[in-house]
Amino acid sequence: MEIKIIENQNPKQPPKDDSKLGFGNFFSNHMLIMQYDKNKGGWGPAEIKPYGVLGLEPAAACLHYGQIVWEGMKCYHTRDGLRLFRPKDNFNRLNRSADRMCMPSVDVDYMVDALKEFLKLEKDWVPKLKGTSLYIRPCMIAHETFLGLHKADKYLLFIILSPSGPYFKEGFNPIKIMVEDKYVRAAKGGTGEAKTAGNYAASLKSAVEAKKKGFSQTLWLDSIEMKYVEEVGAMNIAFVINDEVITPELDGTILHGITRNSVLEICGKLGIKASERRISIDEVIERIENKSLTETFGMGTAAIIAPVGSISYRDQEHIINDFKVGPNAKRIYDELIGIQYGDIEDTFNWIDKIE
Ligand code: PLP
Ligand code: COI
Repeated sequence: MEIKIIENQNPKQPPKDDSKLGFGNFFSNHMLIMQYDKNKGGWGPAEIKPYGVLGLEPAAACLHYGQIVWEGMKCYHTRDGLRLFRPKDNFNRLNRSADRMCMPSVDVDYMVDALKEFLKLEKDWVPKLKGTSLYIRPCMIAHETFLGLHKADKYLLFIILSPSGPYFKEGFNPIKIMVEDKYVRAAKGGTGEAKTAGNYAASLKSAVEAKKKGFSQTLWLDSIEMKYVEEVGAMNIAFVINDEVITPELDGTILHGITRNSVLEICGKLGIKASERRISIDEVIERIENKSLTETFGMGTAAIIAPVGSISYRDQEHIINDFKVGPNAKRIYDELIGIQYGDIEDTFNWIDKIE
C-alpha cells in the first residue's frame, strides 16, 4: 500500500528506559490522518504527517456536540517481529461506535493496511521490555464548522502512537475498586456500548472521588435499579464464583470488550467454565463474604488482566482472596500475554503480523 508521508523534520528519540514509560505519556514522531467529506465522495486517502496540532476551528462540531469515537489497541515487539492483536475487531468496533454517533464507517481492511504502513515507519517506537507495548489510539472527530444541532458532513480520523507500560501503577497486582452508587455512566438506550468521548467524560466525577478515597477505579452499576454490575472505568469485569468465570452480559450499556471476548475464548481453551449473565452487587458482596467468590479481575487493552483485591460498597471494604492474585486470573493472564508476545501459539488467529 502506498501512503503519502510527510517526514517529521524535527524528530525526537523514543524514550530510552522502557521501565519508566507509564501509560500514554509519550507520542511518536508522526500521526496518520484521513479526511471525510460527504460531498466529496467520503473518505480521502490516509496520509502520514508529523505529530502535531490539528488546527481545529472553534466552531468544529466535535467540540460542541461530541461526535467523537475512538479505539485502543496495541502493537507488540516479539522475537518474530512486530505484531498486532485483533486489529480488525478494533476497527469493526470503531464502525459500530461511529454508527451510534451518526458518523461514517471506515473500510476495515484499508485501515489495518494503513496502520501497518504507519507502524513500519515508527517501528523504533515499539518498546522492547516485556509488559510494554506501543498503544495505538485511532480517533474520529466531526470537524465541520456550524452551530445548529445536526450531524456533521466532515470528519477527521487520526491515529497516534504511544509507547506504554502498565496502565496501573500496581502492574499485575491487585487493585482496589469502589462501587459507585450515586452517579451512573450509561443508561439503556444511551451510548454506553459505543466507545465515545462522552461516556468517559461522564465517568470522571466518580473517578476523581474514587481516587481521593484511594481506589484505582469505579465499578459501575446499572442506571435503572443501581443493582446490577456493569463494568469498571477502563475495563470489563469478571468474577470467579465456584470456579466459574462470570462476566456481565452485553446489554447495550457496556463496551463490547475485545479482551473480555478473548478471555471467554481462552477460558474455553483452558477448560475453565465461563458464562455471561446479569449479576447483582448484592450477590457479589454476599459471595465474597461466604467465600464462594474467590477472584475478581478487570479486562481491557490498556489494563490487560487487572486482579481486584477488594471491592468497597457503601463505605465497606470487602477483601477478595486475601488481596492476592488468584489462580484463574494468573492462568488467563499468562495465556493472553503469551499469545500477544508470541510465546504461546495463537490457535485463535488473533495475531496480525506487520512484517
Ligand atoms: N470498558 C471500557 C469503558 C473501556 O474503556 C475498555 C477499554 O478499552 C474496556 C471496557 C475494555 O475493552 P477492550 O478489551 O476492547 O480494550
Ligand atoms: C483501552 O484499554 O484501550 C481503553 O480504552 C482504556 C483507556 C481509558 C485508556
